[in-house]
Amino acid sequence: MVTSLNIYFFSGTGNARNVARWFAETAQAGGTPTKTTDIAETDRKHIQPPPQGSLVGFISPTHGFNYPPAMMYFIFRFPRAKGNSVFLMNTRAGLKLSKWFVPGLSGIALWLAAVVLLLKGYRIVGLRSIDLPSNWISFHPGVKEMVVASIYARCKRITVSFADKILSGKRVYTAFRDIIQDLLVSPVSIGYFFVGRFILAKSFYATSACDNCDLCTNWIFFFCNF
Ligand SMILES: Cc1cc2nc3c(=O)[nH]c(=O)nc-3n(C[C@H](O)[C@H](O)[C@H](O)COP(=O)(O)O)c2cc1C
Repeated sequence: MVTSLNIYFFSGTGNARNVARWFAETAQAGGTPTKTTDIAETDRKHIQPPPQGSLVGFISPTHGFNYPPAMMYFIFRFPRAKGNSVFLMNTRAGLKLSKWFVPGLSGIALWLAAVVLLLKGYRIVGLRSIDLPSNWISFHPGVKEMVVASIYARCKRITVSFADKILSGKRVYTAFRDIIQDLLVSPVSIGYFFVGRFILAKSFYATSACDNCDLCTNWIFFFCNF
């Protein structure tokens, strides 16, 4: 059984942060002492080891079929295990076409992180992708509010059910369902890491000059962007 939980998350637009929150709330409701850390707000060069034997979770978006460098480097620097188990989650670009939920693509995100943590002595007890509304709006128009709401409701149920199982000591490796497509896009993840992220990730981003005009989430902007 899980005695305490430490979640480390990274989030660009809030999806991964919400998954971290849902997981933490499920743990706390069951009486598990839980600490949630936003890695963007912590000293990523001097990471405090999690308590011995605690369950550790990493939750991050997917960028270019991998975890973003901030999370990957955090995992590379993460202290070795002292009897800890770990679960890994990635949020992906979920969409909805008519009544069908369309998943994103993880690539090597979970697999590379899992190998690194295995080598550090961690037991991997869970691997799960969550398909929250896509924020890669350089490639498609923004997702409508009603669709966002229905994707969110579904993903919250999935996260809570995953959390319940992991917290009760079960092992859940749902991500294995996608392993073939993940391996097929793995060369793209490598190209994205070395080249693509310096171009594609910079094609569209908000700064403090954003005045919430909403143009960026519209079709008109989508076509003007290309
Ligand atoms: C630069 C960039 C690259 C992305 N690459 C992928 C990807 O390879 N696969 C995927 O499924 N989603 C991809 N996405 C979508 C996000 O991973 C997804 O919307 C995620 O839920 C966002 O989480 P966040 O709100 O915590 O940042 C990308 C988004 C951005 C901005």
